[in-house]
Amino acid sequence: MSGTAVNLGLLRDYIEYGHAADSFLDDVLEGLSQTQKKLSSKYFYDERGSKLFDDICELPEYYPTRTETGLLRTYAAEFAELIGANASVVEFGSGSSTKVRILLDALESPAAYIPVDISREHLLESSKSLASAYPDLPVVPIAADYTRPFHLPDILGEATRVGFFPGSTIGNFSRDAAVEFLRTAASDLGADNGLLIGVDLRKDVGVLHAAYNDVAGITAAFNINVLRRVNRELGGNFDLDAFTHDARWVADQSRIEMHLVSERDQEVWVDGKCFVFAAGESIHTEDSHKYGIEEFHTLAAKAGWCSIRHWTDTEDLFSLHYLRVA
Ligand code: TRP
Repeated sequence: MSGTAVNLGLLRDYIEYGHAADSFLDDVLEGLSQTQKKLSSKYFYDERGSKLFDDICELPEYYPTRTETGLLRTYAAEFAELIGANASVVEFGSGSSTKVRILLDALESPAAYIPVDISREHLLESSKSLASAYPDLPVVPIAADYTRPFHLPDILGEATRVGFFPGSTIGNFSRDAAVEFLRTAASDLGADNGLLIGVDLRKDVGVLHAAYNDVAGITAAFNINVLRRVNRELGGNFDLDAFTHDARWVADQSRIEMHLVSERDQEVWVDGKCFVFAAGESIHTEDSHKYGIEEFHTLAAKAGWCSIRHWTDTEDLFSLHYLRVA
């Protein structure tokens, strides 16, 4: 199949939901107006942010990616057996579509790959390169905010659907939002279907701290990039040198919190509105919750999922779970 044919196929099947982009300004104005200023982490992933995130995944301190990839490789045959033949794979927040290749390689005649991502350009680029690596596999990208319900296309020859949600992205939701997401995913996927999900585990605080405050400063650049995006897309005037990345462990919430700390008293303007920062005041940009195995099973059960099997590495850093709609 020629490159052009792949491209045409992708464009024909490509689905876009308007809700992917429409609320950026409203969200920013609302978030910066709160007592604890906030910016939603879903806006991290513009083109530059998506590339920086790929770099985070390669960092020596950032154990989740390589640990999860190791688990995927080691247990691929077990997933394939649990999932069965002719399944279509729906990936929530597909990014560069790297890890899913391990799953696709193990599955018996997968019916289709349906990557869902909010970052449209990155989604199309990754879908094209995946489609050319798997010329016989229908690839149907969906540009959407996967936290909102969307309709999955009917796939020819599809026996089952399996959701794929790696990277412990579930940890970036509050506990309530995680239940909500899992409930939505169950209804997007439909009855009798499965979900393969990666969940980062609670562990030594030093290991966690290093993973989110890397020496090379890539995580800092990734965090600051959201301010650059507000400047560029919404006409904001954040001084990027006047904010510092800070990731802190908050024990009573069992989570790492990501902040951007104002280094001095300052005013920032966005869309004709002024936001005042005191020195040391922060914008809260992301949470990364860490779970215990049982705790995660209880959470999944609340959302209507039953846990079929789970896998962890020898150091108990990270876990993978196969869930089925109960
Ligand atoms: N899901 C990833 C995690 O929580 C996302 C992530 C890694 C992240 N490093 C980050 C998000 C830094 C914001 C900032 O581990």
